[in-house]
Amino acid sequence: MFLLPLVGDLVVAQELVVVGDNSYPPYSFVNDQGEAVGICVDLWSAFSAKTGITVEYIATEWSKALEMISTGKADVVDTIFYDKERAQWLAFTKPYAEIEVRVFFKENLQGITGLETLSGFVVGAKRGDRSAEIAKSLNPNISLRYFDSYEQLVKAASEDTVRVFVMDMPPAQYYLAKFELYDSFKSASRALSKQFLYRAVRKDNESLVDIINSGFDKIDTSEVSRIYEKWMGMPVFKVNWKYIFYIAAVFVGILLVVMLWNTLLRRKIRQAVQNAKKQQEELLGAYDQLRAANFELESAYLERDKLLGRLKTVISLADELLESRESTQEQFLSHILEKALYEIPTANYGSISVTEGGVWKFVCTAGHNIEKLNKLNLKSHMMVLVPEVSVVEDWNKINQVSMNQNTYEQFSSAVKPVKSSLVAPLRTDKGQIGNLALDIAKESKEIFSSNDIEVMRAFASLTSVFLKLHEYERTKKDISEQIIFAMVRMMELYDNYTKGHSMRVAKIALEIGRLMNLSEHTIKNLYWTGLVHDIGKLLIPKRILNKKDALSDEEYETVKKHTVWGYEVLNSSPILREIAVYVLHHHERWDGTGYPDHLEKDQIELVSRIISVADSFEAMVSDRAYRKAFSVEYAFSEIESCSGSQFDPAVVRVFVYNKHRILERGSERELR
Ligand SMILES: [Fe+2]
Repeated sequence: MFLLPLVGDLVVAQELVVVGDNSYPPYSFVNDQGEAVGICVDLWSAFSAKTGITVEYIATEWSKALEMISTGKADVVDTIFYDKERAQWLAFTKPYAEIEVRVFFKENLQGITGLETLSGFVVGAKRGDRSAEIAKSLNPNISLRYFDSYEQLVKAASEDTVRVFVMDMPPAQYYLAKFELYDSFKSASRALSKQFLYRAVRKDNESLVDIINSGFDKIDTSEVSRIYEKWMGMPVFKVNWKYIFYIAAVFVGILLVVMLWNTLLRRKIRQAVQNAKKQQEELLGAYDQLRAANFELESAYLERDKLLGRLKTVISLADELLESRESTQEQFLSHILEKALYEIPTANYGSISVTEGGVWKFVCTAGHNIEKLNKLNLKSHMMVLVPEVSVVEDWNKINQVSMNQNTYEQFSSAVKPVKSSLVAPLRTDKGQIGNLALDIAKESKEIFSSNDIEVMRAFASLTSVFLKLHEYERTKKDISEQIIFAMVRMMELYDNYTKGHSMRVAKIALEIGRLMNLSEHTIKNLYWTGLVHDIGKLLIPKRILNKKDALSDEEYETVKKHTVWGYEVLNSSPILREIAVYVLHHHERWDGTGYPDHLEKDQIELVSRIISVADSFEAMVSDRAYRKAFSVEYAFSEIESCSGSQFDPAVVRVFVYNKHRILERGSERELR
C-alpha cells in the first residue's frame, strides 16, 4: 500500500487498502465463494477506473476492520457510521447512504408500532450493534437477546427463537429474502433512527479524504444507480442463471459423450435398458414427491378441521350464554376460561381479571392462587392493558415496574412461573376493563401459534359481549344480535374487503323481503342470513382471501368451500341451525350451475335466492382486492341481465322495480 504525497494538484496514488464489514449486505459482505461483494465493492472498482488508483477491498469482521484502520494495515474503512468518539481519531468523507434502523416482528403479532409497544418482549439484536443501544435507550423495559451476526439473528427468527428483532433496514431485507421470510415478518412503520454511512481515514492521513471525495464525485450518477439497482432492485436469491447455464452446458456435454460412446460401442440395447431403469427411478421419485405433497395437503386439512372445531366451541358457548342468563358472572367466566384452556392446549395456566372501582380483581384463575391474589388489594393502575390480542413474553417482569417491591414479591408467590402469555383485552362500552390471559409454564417448550391467536380473539370477543350484557341487562333479541355481530366483526378483521359488506347485504335482503310481503319470520331470517352468509370465509387462508391477482383453479375451489364450512359452523348451534341451510345455498344459481349442490329454481330456498341478489349487488358496488367499485347503474343492469340465469326472475323484478327504495333504505352507506 503506497500513497505518495500530493504534488501540487497532482495526486500520485498507487494503491489503497480499503476495509469494510463482511456481514453488511447488500453494501459489503462475503458471498458463498468467499469473495468480498456488494455495493461498496462495486463503487470502489468504479472509483479505481476513474482515478487510476488500485484498490484492494477487504471484507472482514467489523472489530477486525476497526483494528486494521487503527493499526495502519488499511488506508480507508468503509460502511462506518459517524460518532463523536470515532471522530477523535478518524476523518470522515461525505456520507453516501442513509440507513434506517427498524423493529421487525412476526406477522401474527398485532399492535406493534414501535419500541414503546414492546415492553416485556424479548428483542433480538446483533452483539455490539448500534441498533441494540438505540433500542435499549428508547425502551428500557425490553429485554435484549444478542446474536453474533445478522445472519444468525434472522435465522433464529425463522426458527421462532425470537419473534421481534431490531436491525438496520438493508441487511434485514437481504436476510429476510434469503431465508424466504418476507411474508412472515413485518417492519414497524416508523424508523427508530436514521444514520448515514461514511468512509473514513485515520486523522494522520486526512488529506486522503479529499482524494476519496473527488474520486467518487467523478463516477457518473447513472453508473451509481446501476450499481444500486443491481444490489437493491434485484432479488439476490432468485435464480442464478450463470449456474443454470453451467449446469446445462455440463449436462449437454455429458449427453454428447454418452451418445458418442453409445454409437461407438454399439450397445444400443444395453443403453435402452439403462434408460428404462432411469425412467423408472424418475417415476418412483415423482411418486414419492406426490405422496409428500399429499401428506402436506392432508395436514393442512387437519389444521383447518381443528380450527373449525374450535369455532364450533365458541358458538356453543354463545348458545349457553343465551340459555343460562341466570348464571353468575364468576360461573360463566370460569366456564369460558376452562373452554379456552381446552381449545388452546399450548397454554398451561390462565386468568380473567377486571378493574372495578379502582381495584384490580381476579374473577377466575387456573393454576394461579386466586385467594392470595385478591387479598393483595391490587389497584387498577397496576394492571397492564394490551390494545390487541398479543403474545407477551415474561409478563411478570412488567408487573415489577407497576408494583412496589413488597406487593410484587407477594404477587410472584401467588402466580405460577410463566414463560409467555397470550393476552386479550376485554372491552365494554366503558372501554377496556380487563384481560383474558393464557400462560405457558416457564419450563414448557411450547409457543403460541397463529391459530391460537385467532381462537383467542373469538373467546375475547365473546367474553366482552357477556360483560357488556351484564352491564346493561339487554333483551334476549339484543343478546343474539350482539353475538352475531361479534362473529361478523371477527370475520371482517380477517377479510380486508368485507368491512360492512355483511351488514349492507342484510339490510338490502331485508328490504327485498318487505317489498315481497314475506312473513316477519322470513324477513328476520333474511336479515340474519345476510349478516353471517360469509362466516365460512374465516376458514379460507388469508393469503387467498386477500389476494390481488387472479385465483388459481385450486384456490377458487377452496374459496367455494366457504358455503359448506359456514353451514357446518352454524349448524352446530340450535339457535342458528335454521339459517345454516340458507347460508349453504347462497351461491346456488337459478339455472342450476351454482355451488355446492347445483340446485335449480325452487329447489333453492327463497331466502338464499334473495341473499344471492343482495350479495352480488353489494359486491359490485364495493371495492374489491382485485378491482374498484362499479357504478350503481351498472350493477342494476348486470343484475337484470342475469335474471333467469343466475337469479330468480321474481326477485330481480322486485329488486329492479324498487331501485330507489332499495338505494334509499337498503344501504347505510352512500352508493356510487
Ligand atoms: Fe359468499
